[in-house]
Amino acid sequence: MRQLSHVLYKSLLPTILLLSLPLSSQANPDPGKTSIKAGAPHEVSAEVCGSCHKEIYAEWKGSMHAQSSALVDPIHGAFYRKVVGDPKQEGVTKKGKFPVCLRCHAPNAAIRKKTKLDSKIAFNEGVNCVFCHTLTKFKGTTKPNGKLRLGQAAYENSTTALQAPSGKNYSTAEKPEGASVTTPGFHPFPMEGGNSALLKSNDVCMGCHDRRNNFHGVPLCATGTEIADSKVFTSCQSCHMATVNGHADHSMAGGHTEDMVRRAVIMDLNVSKKDGQYQATVKILNKLPHKFPTGAPFRNVYLKLTAYDDGGNVVWQNYKTHPMKEDPKAMFVYTLGDDEGKPAMPPKAKKVLSDTRLEPNTEKSLSYQIPASGIKVVRAELLYNLLLPKLVTQLDKVLTDDLRNPKQAAFAEVRF
Ligand code: HEC
Ligand code: HEC
Ligand code: HEC
Ligand code: HEC
Ligand code: HEC
Repeated sequence: MRQLSHVLYKSLLPTILLLSLPLSSQANPDPGKTSIKAGAPHEVSAEVCGSCHKEIYAEWKGSMHAQSSALVDPIHGAFYRKVVGDPKQEGVTKKGKFPVCLRCHAPNAAIRKKTKLDSKIAFNEGVNCVFCHTLTKFKGTTKPNGKLRLGQAAYENSTTALQAPSGKNYSTAEKPEGASVTTPGFHPFPMEGGNSALLKSNDVCMGCHDRRNNFHGVPLCATGTEIADSKVFTSCQSCHMATVNGHADHSMAGGHTEDMVRRAVIMDLNVSKKDGQYQATVKILNKLPHKFPTGAPFRNVYLKLTAYDDGGNVVWQNYKTHPMKEDPKAMFVYTLGDDEGKPAMPPKAKKVLSDTRLEPNTEKSLSYQIPASGIKVVRAELLYNLLLPKLVTQLDKVLTDDLRNPKQAAFAEVRF
């Protein structure tokens, strides 16, 4: 990486008018591919950073942050088109206002007040490197008048320098021989360390993950508020940006990743036989400082409890087709409704009907009498779904199996 200091330019972001990145050919195999304009760091593509930060780029590229734009995420895309409009059109508004969705799902476009997401690579990259690494201040998600201030609007971003989480300062000038402690290190983009506290704290996530309401003021997502209410300080980065190969993991896995979903709970199954009756108790401890499931209101988790006989046949299960109506106590979900109290989709909801999600750091216990004999195996599975059954049917055309099918959050078995 020392060859980096042969880079020719200085003060890249603020001063250079139109420039192809003249990185040494070793550092950037494809120089000239991307260009940036003066004062427009929010148009710098993640590919530029990825030419050096290869591992972090690959992690980010596979994350939902890189797929959050309405042209990339099929689920968000379907909602966006329905609720707001065409993501390939300029000047789209919602009730005369700039579409709030873009402030979180395409923050670089929001900074530029643009709605045509395919007009710049960095717009369609969703939450990309320069968006997070230019954050200088978190203003909070509540305005003085009590209204919400969301996503990009909750922050201030530098237009001149990247922000280093380590707190060190960098310049674009080559680090001279015999540099002292007061000489900034070298980075191809100017980078300052004064706001490292922001990048190290939950605030760097809160603008987008604290909470969000629909147009009727009904709370939809509230991950940050859930953690604040749990009164235990836990850093988002400690789980979502754990150390991998010596650096902070940028995959930021969540509900889309089974390996992450499997880390959420501890599930314990106990089955006893009394007077010829089987009694099963399932204890589920949510290890997280936020609810399980957290986030979007259609995320849902349920318990499937099955008893098998000697031949492997199902002799009993806690539901036949779906637990939502057949065994509601086994369903962990946030339910929104209309004025009449009937379930409603998030954009249309007028009130919260119920919230049976697992509370942070809390255990829930479920008991079942199993009216069957000759049981050989009792199996408990905790299943996580990104979408409710009704939405799976409605969005069927845009869904891949990965988005449609449940993920196994926990598994336990008792054999007789
Ligand atoms: C030409 C290669 C190169 C490019 C392009 C590049 N970086 Fe870096 N970056 C480095 C090197 C090398 C370091 C390590 C500096 C050190 O430790 O001395 C670094 C360090 C960093 C750090 C950590 C700084 C700290 O001390 O906390 C961040 C954040 C960062 N880069 C972000 C970016 C972003 C965002 C982009 C794209 C806008 C980018 N980099 C483009 C080479 C590059
Ligand atoms: C103790 C580890 C831990 C901490 C701390 C933690 N999370 Fe999580 N988080 C998880 C796990 C495990 C999941 C996967 C299960 C789920 O979706 O609830 C998850 C899921 C998520 C999701 C996915 C929701 C979705 O719809 O897919 C978001 C968003 C999230 N966390 C944000 C945060 C934020 C923001 C913070 C800090 C305020 C935070 N988390 C702190 C472990 C943690
Ligand atoms: C969602 C916001 C976000 C995005 C997007 C993001 N980063 Fe980061 N990055 C962070 C935070 C927060 C840290 C500090 C983590 C810590 O130290 O706790 C960090 C740390 C880093 C570091 C220092 C890593 C280490 O452990 O020393 C580098 C380098 C870096 N990011 C580069 C990039 C590049 C390149 C991209 C795009 C491919 C990118 N980041 C995208 C938020 C982000
Ligand atoms: C500019 C807004 C923004 C910031 C800042 C931000 N996120 Fe996100 N994040 C999003 C959006 C939007 C999505 C959802 C993308 C989608 O599903 O379309 C998301 C998704 C996630 C997910 C869910 C992944 C999944 O599998 O569904 C996790 C976990 C997450 N972010 C963690 C973090 C953490 C931790 C931070 C702070 C270090 C952070 N985010 C900062 C906007 C942001
Ligand atoms: C305050 C930030 C914020 C705003 C504003 C926002 N979202 Fe999101 N959205 C997120 C985050 C963060 C996630 C994913 C993590 C989670 O579930 O919390 C997400 C996830 C989603 C998902 C689920 C995507 C998936 O892959 O499963 C849909 C759909 C969605 N948003 C639609 C919208 C629409 C439509 C709008 C505008 C009307 C909007 N969002 C506004 C932050 C936001």
